[in-house]
Amino acid sequence: MTASNDPNKGKRRSAQWWGKLDKDGYAHRSWMKNQGFPGEVFDGRPVIGIANTFSEFNPCHGHFRKICEHVKRGVWEAGGFPLEFPVFSNSESQLRPTSMLYRNLASMDVEEAIRGLPMDGIVLLVGCDKTTPALLMGAASCDLPTICVSGGPMLNGYYKGEKIGSGTHVWKFSEAVRAGEMSIEAFMSAEADNARSAGHCMTMGTASTMASMVESLGVSLPANAAIPAVDSRRYVLSHMSGKRIVDMVIEDLRLSKILTKKNFENAIMTNGAIGGSTNAVIHLQAIAGRMGVELGLEDWDRLGKDMPCLVNLMPSGEHLMEDFYYAGGLPTVLKEIGDFIHKDALTANGKAIWDNVKDAENYNTDVIFPLKTPFKPNGGIAVLRGNLCPDGAVIKPSAASPELMVHTGRAVVFEDIEDYKAKIDDEALEIDETCIMVLKNCGPKGYPGMAEVGNMGLPPKVLRKGITDMVRISDARMSGTAYGTVVLHGCPEAAAGGPLALVQNGDMITLDVPNRKLHLDVSAAELEKRQAATTAFSNPYDRGYSKMYVDHVNQATDGADLDFLVGKSGTPEMRESH
Ligand code: FES
Repeated sequence: MTASNDPNKGKRRSAQWWGKLDKDGYAHRSWMKNQGFPGEVFDGRPVIGIANTFSEFNPCHGHFRKICEHVKRGVWEAGGFPLEFPVFSNSESQLRPTSMLYRNLASMDVEEAIRGLPMDGIVLLVGCDKTTPALLMGAASCDLPTICVSGGPMLNGYYKGEKIGSGTHVWKFSEAVRAGEMSIEAFMSAEADNARSAGHCMTMGTASTMASMVESLGVSLPANAAIPAVDSRRYVLSHMSGKRIVDMVIEDLRLSKILTKKNFENAIMTNGAIGGSTNAVIHLQAIAGRMGVELGLEDWDRLGKDMPCLVNLMPSGEHLMEDFYYAGGLPTVLKEIGDFIHKDALTANGKAIWDNVKDAENYNTDVIFPLKTPFKPNGGIAVLRGNLCPDGAVIKPSAASPELMVHTGRAVVFEDIEDYKAKIDDEALEIDETCIMVLKNCGPKGYPGMAEVGNMGLPPKVLRKGITDMVRISDARMSGTAYGTVVLHGCPEAAAGGPLALVQNGDMITLDVPNRKLHLDVSAAELEKRQAATTAFSNPYDRGYSKMYVDHVNQATDGADLDFLVGKSGTPEMRESH
């Protein structure tokens, strides 16, 4: 069925605005006509809203006007009526105090726009870390036919002939400066080499992970994850996505038909196979929460723990997203893990995921390793429990040091990130490589916004010994482009009364990843005493979105969504505006 023989033409929600022959219909159509649209486009054809997160403050989306034009071409070609609308653009590289604080705000923005405007289907233009989950969360709560188009990664970075990755080399180079191994001049000259084109971070960081999650969830066309932002095929994919969303509307292929538990399980397994970011845990938990799909941390451990990492990309490996695309991209990975995934999971093109990937080929086994001889034995997320994180914490074993996976050490405590920054370079700080660095008050409420500060840099006196990793524990997140033996998302967070708040300098902590344990070696009686002496956290904001966020944000385990946004309410008919 196509737009030309569409039996439901004129019967969809956009007709509530433009199908009326009264004063209200006149008003809705008349003002739209001032943009030069002919009367025939209001004939009941599928109206496609294109959520555009273009912003010059979000360099990862600098090319989104062009992407959007190509989506529109596809919509027109298929007989739909495309209309672009702006959505708050969370810029990971520019937005303070952290773009995660505003993920839920962007999700509210897109949700209310979808519900309040005459659209029958949605194209979500996403890319930079938080934009993908934010827009999917908002769209999930509306549950119309929806397709994602990711903006694609930047071209590979090169510095003095060496491949360098977004984020990953910021940490590496800044540690080198702190260790006295790199000059400030060299550090600054590497900046432009690290960001050569439009597009999102080109390591397997959060943006690339989330683009891969979108593809493995089935809410994009195949190959969405890896095509470089400036490759002509990114524009072809945009065009084809525009064509496809019109058919999805005609088929009434809503998000709830695609985002089932099976699809989430496929995404979790895929995250293991690509060695994806720990941030995927929080974002998928939040999207599942909007869809009403039961997903728990146990699912991540159960599905991820035996999943080998196949993809040799920074931060855990050597290559970058451009190489990943040339090697075959995500379809090749999905084909390799075909014996694990739910092959019949439905995707946006109307086919089962296996039908999309079964003929994929691997063009470079140094970038995408075969399942039989994986890049790393385990790429999944390990979920830890213990008296330091009763509701769970996560670690990415593929980014950690094998020799630190079982480790007991003396706690060196930082009360917040400012405390860490004030002390870490002090030569008098009592710390060595056997210690465990503990950072508090960086969770959803405490920071607020759960900043990516969990991968604290090491003290210079440790770095000078040539040591590059120590165990670090916090209630924060970590950039997907970072690496190390870093325990994150400790729940409940310190600011919500979690036991992390009770750790003191000198306490002994045991990390035991194989047994999924994180233990603070302090008696329950002593912890009770410390608890009684702590001051309860209070919201530092007295107005605005930030106040609402701190008052209502859930813990990381539940995706750090706002409590009143969990679930969906669809798109019921709205009252007239005049
Ligand atoms: Fe936008 Fe990394 S800063 S994806």
